[in-house]
Amino acid sequence: MPGSELPSTAKLRPDFIWGVSTSSFQIEGATKEDGRGPSVWDIYCQNGEIKNGDTGDIACDHYHRYREDVALMKRLGVQAYRFSVAWPRILPRGQGSANEPALSFYDRLIDELLAAGIEPWLCLYHWDLPQALEDLGGWMNRQSSAWFADYTRLVATRYGDRVKRFATFNEPSIFSLFGRSLGKRDRSSEDNLHRTIHHVNLAHGAAVDVLREKVAGASIGCIHNYQPCRPSSGNEADTTAAARLDAYWNKAFPDPQCRGEYPPLMRPAIEPHMQSGDLARICRPVDWFGLNHYSPVYVKAQPASMLGFDFGTKPANVPLTPIEWPIDPDAFAETLLTIHQRYGLPIYVLENGYGNFDSLDETGAVIDTKRIEFLRVYIGAMNAAASGGVDVRGYFIWSLLDNFEWESGYSIRFGLIYVDYPSLRRTPKSSFGWYADLIKTARQR
Ligand code: FCB
Repeated sequence: MPGSELPSTAKLRPDFIWGVSTSSFQIEGATKEDGRGPSVWDIYCQNGEIKNGDTGDIACDHYHRYREDVALMKRLGVQAYRFSVAWPRILPRGQGSANEPALSFYDRLIDELLAAGIEPWLCLYHWDLPQALEDLGGWMNRQSSAWFADYTRLVATRYGDRVKRFATFNEPSIFSLFGRSLGKRDRSSEDNLHRTIHHVNLAHGAAVDVLREKVAGASIGCIHNYQPCRPSSGNEADTTAAARLDAYWNKAFPDPQCRGEYPPLMRPAIEPHMQSGDLARICRPVDWFGLNHYSPVYVKAQPASMLGFDFGTKPANVPLTPIEWPIDPDAFAETLLTIHQRYGLPIYVLENGYGNFDSLDETGAVIDTKRIEFLRVYIGAMNAAASGGVDVRGYFIWSLLDNFEWESGYSIRFGLIYVDYPSLRRTPKSSFGWYADLIKTARQR
């Protein structure tokens, strides 16, 4: 198939890790089973905020089908699987007594992975905050870092004998910004955005300390989205807006966590929420930088918006995916280099992938050539970045399965495996076979 040849991986480390990523709310389903409490996402869904009225109630039914999913991963040949624990499943009210049936679900999942020779990468927080904590102010409440530390202690104590790779948060800037300033869930003031940013950073630092104390040999990071922010036009207002977005979107979390400082243009707004010693509480040593990257972002000035920016038009000559995300592998290589230089940490790419409107053809197959082409050029760009000296140590595709996509529900598909939602039948797409070949070839070198 033209465009589906394998990219060179010659410059990647011999111990490079190939994996896939998912998250709890997006695949598990079983939202009312075994004592799970509601999360903020159950409530957004109930309120009809998701396309087509979709909910996470069933999702991919991974809660019941995890054995089949692990068997598929084994067939794929991945060395690692990144998943998240649902906080409201194991602590239905966010704090207090733990829910044993849910704890034992993750025991079974972890044991199944280890038996298949797949390393579990556990993310503590992929956006499904227990609603009971949101009712107490959620991340706007400074107590949230203590809640998060207690939850982390429970996870670390229970699974730390078998899990060594831990991520504290997935894309803290996305859930903070979209929850508190941009988009439909905008219901608060600027002050609450900065409060949220600072408290999530404090929670990260507290969790790192707990993991270091409880898990011998833990390897810890946080997962950040990082995208070049490009002005939509050459005018000065758009350039200023792009610099503002860069501070909030890219740097608001990794800068304090890894460099012990907030970007200068945010400092006055963070200051009222800062207490003495906070930056030292946030900036705890981590082992790696988790990167989620899909595309660059185009920005325009929008004086009426809370932070003075909005998403702008994309240049006409940039190719787009079917969901209109720019395809720009050079921006990926540029991002890897920026992060390498700015933070000096080993990088794991923990999300990259292609959103599409895949469907089964008349033979029952999914021939997703465009996804393969996308993965080929992005992996090629990563190899080029590595040859330029970037310390990149792993690459995880978003996602193993088609799943519940925030806001778009089930209308967009990112999986290497097609999920027929009415029957929940899994069908590996062509990209599944292609990634399996790539992993095999790369590991034989
Ligand atoms: C990322 C999210 C992930 C998924 C992909 C497409 O921002 O971390 O859950 O939705 O985008």
